[in-house]
Amino acid sequence: MPEPLLTALGVEAGYRSKQILFGVDFTISRGEVVALLGANGSGKSTALNTVSGFVRPSAGSIRFDGEEIAGSPPHRIFRRGIIQVSQARDLFPDMSVEDNLRLGAWVRGAEIEADLDAVCTSFPRLGERRRQPVRLMSGGEQQMVAIGRALMGRPKLLLLDEPSGGLAPVFVGEIAAIMTALKGRGITMLIIEQNIKLALTVADRFLILRDGKVAQGHDVRTGAATEEDIVRSIYL
Ligand SMILES: Nc1ncnc2c1ncn2[C@@H]1O[C@H](COP(=O)(O)OP(=O)(O)O)[C@@H](O)[C@H]1O
Ligand SMILES: [Mg+2]
Repeated sequence: MPEPLLTALGVEAGYRSKQILFGVDFTISRGEVVALLGANGSGKSTALNTVSGFVRPSAGSIRFDGEEIAGSPPHRIFRRGIIQVSQARDLFPDMSVEDNLRLGAWVRGAEIEADLDAVCTSFPRLGERRRQPVRLMSGGEQQMVAIGRALMGRPKLLLLDEPSGGLAPVFVGEIAAIMTALKGRGITMLIIEQNIKLALTVADRFLILRDGKVAQGHDVRTGAATEEDIVRSIYL
C-alpha cells in the first residue's frame, strides 16, 4: 500500500478559550475525494484550518506528501500544495476576476497565462467577466472565482469549505458539476459540505466529525450508508 497523501493522527486544536478537536484521525489517498460532515459548530472548519496551517494544532501529527506539516505556517503548507477555499472565500471585491485569479499563482512564475486561460475555459462565466470587479458578481460566480484562484496554485490537495453554502439552488448544481469535473481530473479533495446529497454525489468516502473526533465507524465509503443513516449519525 502506498502512503496516503495525507495522514492526520491524534490532532488536537482549538482557540484560546476552548479546545475543539480532541484527537482527529483520518487519511486521504491520492486522487480521492473525501467529504467531512458534521453538525454546525462541530469543528469542521477548525479541522480544515488546522490542515492548512491557519489554526496551529496543540498535539498530533499531520503528514502530507511524505513530510510532517503540523505546526508549519500557512504559506509553507500552501507551497507544499495544500490550497484552501475558505468558507468566507476571501476574495478582493474591488479587483477584477482576472486579478483575483492571478493572486492564486503568486508563488510561481511559470505558465500563469496558460493556467489563466484554462480556468477561464473551464468556467466560461469567468472568462466572459474577466475584467469585471468581483463585487459585481453573484455568490455562485464568486465561489467559482475562489475555486479558480485555488486551481491557479496547482493544488495537490484542494480543501473546500462549504462550496455550496449560501448559494441559490441553481448554483448548487453548478458547483456540484465543477467538483465532479475536478474529481475527473484526478484532483484530490477534502470537502466540507452541509448539503449531504451533494457530498454523497461527489465524494468517494465521508468522515463524520462529532465530539471533536472522527466518529467511530464513520470513516465510510459512499454507498455504504444512506442519507438518513448519515443525518442520524450527525445529529442523534
Ligand atoms: N476564531 C475563533 N475563535 C474562537 N472560537 C472559534 C473560532 N472559530 C470557531 N470557533 C468556535 O469553534 C467551534 C467550531 O467551529 P467551526 O470549526 O467553525 O465549526 P463548523 O465549521 O463545523 O461549523 C464553534 O464553537 C465556534 O464557535
Ligand atoms: Mg464551518
